[in-house]
Order: sequence, then structure tokens, then C-alpha cells
Amino acid sequence: MKAVVVYEKGKYEIRDVPMPKLNDGDVLIRINYAALCYRDLLQLAGYYPRMKYPVILGHEAVGVVVESRDPRFKSGNRVVPLLHEPDGVCEFCLRGLDSYCINALSYGENIDGFFAEYARVSGNALVKVPDEVPDELAVLVPCVIAMVYKGLRRVGLTQGETVVVTGASGGVGIHAVQLAKALGTRVIGVTRSPEKAGFIKQFADDVITEGKFSRVVKDLTGGIGADIVIEAVGTPTIEESIRSLRTGGRLVIIGNVNPDEVYPLRLGHLILKDISLVGNVRSNKPDVAETLKLLNKSSIKPIIAATYPLDKFNEALEHMKGSTRIGKVLIKP
Ligand SMILES: NC(=O)c1ccc[n+]([C@@H]2O[C@H](COP(=O)([O-])OP(=O)(O)OC[C@H]3O[C@@H](n4cnc5c(N)ncnc54)[C@H](OP(=O)(O)O)[C@@H]3O)[C@@H](O)[C@H]2O)c1
Ligand SMILES: [Zn+2]
Ligand SMILES: [Zn+2]
Repeated sequence: MKAVVVYEKGKYEIRDVPMPKLNDGDVLIRINYAALCYRDLLQLAGYYPRMKYPVILGHEAVGVVVESRDPRFKSGNRVVPLLHEPDGVCEFCLRGLDSYCINALSYGENIDGFFAEYARVSGNALVKVPDEVPDELAVLVPCVIAMVYKGLRRVGLTQGETVVVTGASGGVGIHAVQLAKALGTRVIGVTRSPEKAGFIKQFADDVITEGKFSRVVKDLTGGIGADIVIEAVGTPTIEESIRSLRTGGRLVIIGNVNPDEVYPLRLGHLILKDISLVGNVRSNKPDVAETLKLLNKSSIKPIIAATYPLDKFNEALEHMKGSTRIGKVLIKP
């Protein structure tokens, strides 16, 4: 089968590789779609120290079971894999916190991932997709929509709150805007690009394009500030994100587009404003299952910039790097 293999730091090629082998508890899936994520760019730039070479890249997929050695799954089931492969038995797995599994490996990082025609996945890492949720939306659940859902759950989001989303045109941002809206909040999107603002406005109550966006957030909230900011960019916007929060506000930190940059945190500001900073990564199996149910009932749309076949992976990667893209880039093997 064909796959995108990273064979050493920063170097990849599309190769013919043997079909994956299954052990007891494993499932073979045919990949319907895999999605690119900014993380793939960071991985190819060498920022992931636990990468094992050679490895098949890609951690976001939806597929169909073609062979199963796990009695919970049978041929024809449509499934999404988590980002990690939990053992299913450690204390965190038993508490529904499988993303903290002490023995978890990570797809596309230290075990083979999903930019391939087929993939081996442990049954412990799979969630069945309801018929009503299309592939293009399901593929975005574990790393994007359920990941944001988990972050909002962890900061205790309630209906009627105001949520700011930075990087609102990005793969994470444009779906975070829609999820926050579907959960009954008022949403303010932030983008650098006036050209993208109109598109985002279809889903957000307001869109801000000013670099110093905290002043505008204050104006839009009667001088109070936002209840929650979803930080989907990182160091370029975090100062303004913190300034946008009301007293008692919560920041969900998801993006880190410039991992080399360090942000100097003023502790007094956090303390005196009673601010919570919450780092957020991946999603647990219950978050994925709940999000899939929610998508079944909501009007959240997958925003797909383009879809490429596996052998055009180079073009897909260039598209990811472009500055005019809105939403996700998909691979259809
Ligand atoms: N924590 C997790 O579990 C998780 C999961 C997925 C992704 N991520 C991280 O989240 C971040 C976004 O990922 P993504 O896949 O959504 O990437 P993306 O599609 O490229 O979106 C990033 C958005 O951020 C904005 N942006 C980029 N560079 C910026 C800069 N220097 N200053 C201001 N804005 C900038 C851009 O929006 P505008 O052009 O509209 O300004 C861009 O659309 C990445 O750091 C990624 O690694 C984390
Ligand atoms: Zn991802
Ligand atoms: Zn575990």
C-alpha cells in the first residue's frame, strides 16, 4: 500500500510499504479521509522529540473496518481513531481519561499513522461513527472538535457566556467558533486577515481583525471582557488573549505556532484578575463519543479548504503552509 513515510528528521517520501500486520485486539481500517494539521508541519520541522523513524505520518482519520481481531468491531463499521493508543487498563483509562494513559503511544509519532491506504489501530483507540455524521466531519473530531469540546468542558463553559477564538480561520479555529456557538455561547472570532473575516462572520457573532484585539473585545462586552478565550495561535496572540479576559476569565491554550518563542507571564495580572490558564491537548474517548452525538444534532459544518489524493501529499502540505487557506486540508487515499 502507499503511505507518507517520515524516514528521518524532516524528511519524508511517498512509499510502497507492506500491509500492516494485526495482533489480537487490533483492527485494520481502510482510510476514507485523513486530515492535515499544523502539528504535521511541526513534526516535519523536527519539533516532536519522541518521533520514531521510519513512521507513517498523520494522526487524524476516518475509515472503515476491513478486518477485526477485536470482538467490539466488525467489517463495515465506520470508525475514528483517537490520537493515541491507550492500553485500556491503567488507572486513567479506567477513569475515562485515556488521553493520560501511562502506556499510550501516539499515531503518526511513535506508531504508524494515517496518511496511508490502510492502518492498523488498536480497538481500544476506536470510536464508531453514527450514520448521520459524514466522513468529512467525523475526521475532524478527535484532534479538533472533541479536543476543543474537552477544553471547554474543563473550564466549565456555560450557556450565554462570551467566547473569543483566536486564529479563527484555521483548522482548529473555524470549528472552535462553530462548536462554541452550538454550545449556546456568544462567539467573537479573531483573525489577522480582513479577507477571511467575512467568511468567519457566517458562524461568529463578531469578528475582529485588529492586532490589539483586547480593546475591541472589551468594547463588545460592555467593558467587562470575555468569559473564555480559546487560544488557537500561541505566542503571537496570547498577550492580547489574556488582556481580553474578564476577572475570573479562563484561557484554553491549544495553539503554539512558534514553539521556539517564549511568553513572559506577569503573575500579578493573573492573580489579581483570578485568571485560569488551562493547557489542552487531544481528547478522551468519552469526549469523542459525546462530540459525535452533538454533531448528529447540531449544524456544525466541516470547513474543508481542499482534498488531495495521497500521491499529491506535497501539494497538500504546500496548501497547509499558504496564508489564504480557511479550514482543513484533507487527504483521500
Ligand atoms: N492542543 C491540541 O490538541 C491541538 C490540536 C490541533 C492543533 N493544535 C495546534 O493549534 C495551532 C493551530 O493549528 P491548526 O491546525 O488550526 O493550524 P492552521 O489551520 O494553520 O490555523 C492557524 C491559524 O492561526 C493564525 N496564525 C498563524 N500564525 C499566526 C501568527 N504568527 N500570528 C497570528 N495568527 C497566526 C492564522 O489565522 P489568520 O490567518 O486568520 O490570522 C491561521 O489560520 C497549531 O499550533 C497546532 O499545533 C493543537
Ligand atoms: Zn491534529
Ligand atoms: Zn491506560
